[in-house]
Amino acid sequence: METLIGIDLNIAIENLKKGEPIGIPTETVYGLAADIKKPEAIAKIFEVKNRPSFDPLIVHLLDKEQLIEICQSIPEAFDLLYNAFCPGPITFILLKKEGVSDLITAGHPTVGIRFPNHPLTRQLLKLSKLALAAPSANPFGYVSPTSAQHVNNQLGGKISYILDGGECKVGLESTIIDLSKNEITILRLGGLSLEEIEDVLGYKIRAAKTSSSNPKAPGMLSSHYSPSKKVIFDKNDKEEILEDIDKIGSIRFNTYHPIIEKKNQWLLSEKGDLKEAARNLFKVLRETENTDLEYIYAEKFPDVGLGKAINDRLKRAAH
Ligand code: TXA
Ligand code: MG
Repeated sequence: METLIGIDLNIAIENLKKGEPIGIPTETVYGLAADIKKPEAIAKIFEVKNRPSFDPLIVHLLDKEQLIEICQSIPEAFDLLYNAFCPGPITFILLKKEGVSDLITAGHPTVGIRFPNHPLTRQLLKLSKLALAAPSANPFGYVSPTSAQHVNNQLGGKISYILDGGECKVGLESTIIDLSKNEITILRLGGLSLEEIEDVLGYKIRAAKTSSSNPKAPGMLSSHYSPSKKVIFDKNDKEEILEDIDKIGSIRFNTYHPIIEKKNQWLLSEKGDLKEAARNLFKVLRETENTDLEYIYAEKFPDVGLGKAINDRLKRAAH
């Protein structure tokens, strides 16, 4: 199949109506989207990504008016967070209505809902009037794409169209918050910081524990962002380096590692801005793939704001 890349919403909509999944830009990462009402198209998403069927998909909507068809009851916390952050990098887990396909929810009684904040994709949702199920547009277990080129590098030839919305502004997947139970929990740290969410809710929330293989805990597989290099996370700069120094690269916040060669180091934000660092993380993980390096030493980032999500992804990459 030939993969076209462009900004033509008519072509994008045509493909969706034909049941072809397409690449779409969001502010977090690129998604691989299909109409939630087309089971064959949803099945194709799993096939193209090589994704296990127990891992449910997020449904992308233009605004909360569309929720009536998809979710049962809307808790108060939803309204608070929606008003504060949507459209934006947060996914809500809510109790689904019966009509929502088990293919999308992997048989769970809940569904993930997100209102992406990218002008092109909002235009697509508006013109098509569709609800779009979309996981990140990467092969299962690999780093999420933050540009149309990333999507094409890995899924080119397997999908018909990629809507090119430039580089993703946030660069980390959405924060997933479970509002379907008595206690609100965070299932995945992401592009919206925990502190910002807690400020709006007015109380602290707990992050649920990750698991290496428990399909009952979707969103929480601990090994998930693996590049092909061996990533070593949070090793103290003063600890002895055991590997051959020429084979070592490093991903850092804003200062160079004292021993590793400078040309093999990536600073995610020279000015020490965690948002900029988050935006660059996946791009840099991909860049390390195009080198002969064997080991990537990743520094632990400050454990505040988006630093928490950056550390989460680096830890998973090192798993
Ligand atoms: O930023 C994002 O969230 C991106 C963009 C494309 O929207 N999407 C994304 O999708 O990261 P994906 O499929 O790569 O990750 C979605 C995560 C999965 O780990 C899945 O297990 C979890 O969300 N998830 C989806 N539905 C769920 C549900 N009903 N309950 C718990 N977790 C759910
Ligand atoms: Mg993903």
